[in-house]
Amino acid sequence: MFDIEKAMETDEEKAAADEHAFGGSWTLIKLDALEKYLSAFNTALSRQGFTRIYIDGFAGTGRCDISVKGEKSSVDGSVRRALRASPPFHKLCFIELEAQKIAALRALQSEHHDKRIEVIRDDANATLKYICRTYDWKNTRAVLFLDPCGMHVEWSTLEAIAATGAVDVWYLFPYYGLYRQAANKADALDANKKKSLTRILGTDAWRQEFYAPQRQSDLFGKEGGDVRESNHRDMLEFVSARLSGIFPAVAKPKILYQAGDSKRPGGAPLFALYFAAANPKRSAHGLAIKIATEVLNSL
Ligand SMILES: C[S@@+](CC[C@H](N)C(=O)[O-])C[C@H]1O[C@@H](n2cnc3c(N)ncnc32)[C@H](O)[C@@H]1O
Repeated sequence: MFDIEKAMETDEEKAAADEHAFGGSWTLIKLDALEKYLSAFNTALSRQGFTRIYIDGFAGTGRCDISVKGEKSSVDGSVRRALRASPPFHKLCFIELEAQKIAALRALQSEHHDKRIEVIRDDANATLKYICRTYDWKNTRAVLFLDPCGMHVEWSTLEAIAATGAVDVWYLFPYYGLYRQAANKADALDANKKKSLTRILGTDAWRQEFYAPQRQSDLFGKEGGDVRESNHRDMLEFVSARLSGIFPAVAKPKILYQAGDSKRPGGAPLFALYFAAANPKRSAHGLAIKIATEVLNSL
């Protein structure tokens, strides 16, 4: 029988290594979703007096190298897509850690000197918490893209985003990372794995939720330690419930797979593309979720 959990251990690792250099079909899906939402967001808010901001927490360079069915190409990344959103944003804020990528972002900034662009070289978590704490959210609305390479988004960052009451967030959740860290046997959960799961989920309740005592003792009657009883879907439901606990509205995530395309996916599930709206007003988050759901269904 095809063991998806076993397969993920190998496939997702290969894919994760690949994504470091090359994205795949999932890259096109996430970027397509983001781009469609950005224009819809700016259109929906264009008659209101808000300052509209785009924030990219893990900005990259503006270009993405991808490999789809063995064919390599380069496509516009999230920041270039945000720059061409129509109607345009009033301000764009690009956060990135790597010096070389910052240089590419600064070059883009010079190319678009007619736009208000802020390029920040720093850790996304620290910077986003600062932005969430200090911006004037009464008069500002933002779309934030969280597209980390791995398990980099701290739960406390998501709490800060939710507390603004004014940010719509697209979060490419590292489904494969959750798997890799949540080992099948609890004994294999070293301190780093536990720490990264708690950081990304904002609680250590995952331990009770995902693990239970092994039902059978071994051949010699020795009791085994706890084993993971939750499958990957149960684990993702836990993530969704956690997000719904802090955001007023969360759309059903789109699972992005290693191969195939959006309609005929193949291989292991790698990411869960979440959309969450921080605005507590029903009319505002209701509209945001409606647009995001339409976008996700159109992919
Ligand atoms: C998956 S790429 C983003 C791709 C980008 N969204 C695009 O569409 O072109 C993730 C980026 O996050 C950057 N990064 C990694 N850790 C970071 C951190 N703690 N804070 C900010 N950026 C980080 C990496 O250098 C990398 O460029």
